[in-house]
Amino acid sequence: MKTLITCTVNGEEREVLADTRDTLLDLLRDRIGLTGTKEGCGNGNCGTCTVLVDGAPVNACLVLALEAPGCDILTIEGLAGEGGRLHPIQQALVDCNGTQCGFCTPGIVMSAKALLDENPSPSEAEIRHAVAGNLCRCTGYGKIVEAISAAAATIRAH
Ligand code: FES
Ligand code: FES
Repeated sequence: MKTLITCTVNGEEREVLADTRDTLLDLLRDRIGLTGTKEGCGNGNCGTCTVLVDGAPVNACLVLALEAPGCDILTIEGLAGEGGRLHPIQQALVDCNGTQCGFCTPGIVMSAKALLDENPSPSEAEIRHAVAGNLCRCTGYGKIVEAISAAAATIRAH
């Protein structure tokens, strides 16, 4: 059965026909075509599908599309600045070598954004806690933590 879902995605109001069994991840990737959000485990363990819903980080694979009506959803595609300029978190991940294969990166960026929106001066422990649900098989996490700390400094400076 199909249902018409109305929600805001990256600042734009969307009306999307979704299957009642669709997750929010299906809605974003398959119905809207925003494939920046990745599907890893599909069951809430890896964090690659992290998006912000009304400002809070959620695993999009665990949320039903039917829960999305009226929500304000932010995905990795919504972070780019003018002319596609990288968000400071993305730029810091590049500068600090905090990304390798990149599969986990969109989820890490969104978890970091939720943290820095709430706490612009996080401690290392707070950064590690914020991305604890985001698994990375490549980087060993040190560079990711360094990058989020550097991004926080950049954001504070502006
Ligand atoms: Fe959602 Fe792994 S794909 S947590
Ligand atoms: Fe490859 Fe994190 S950079 S999984």
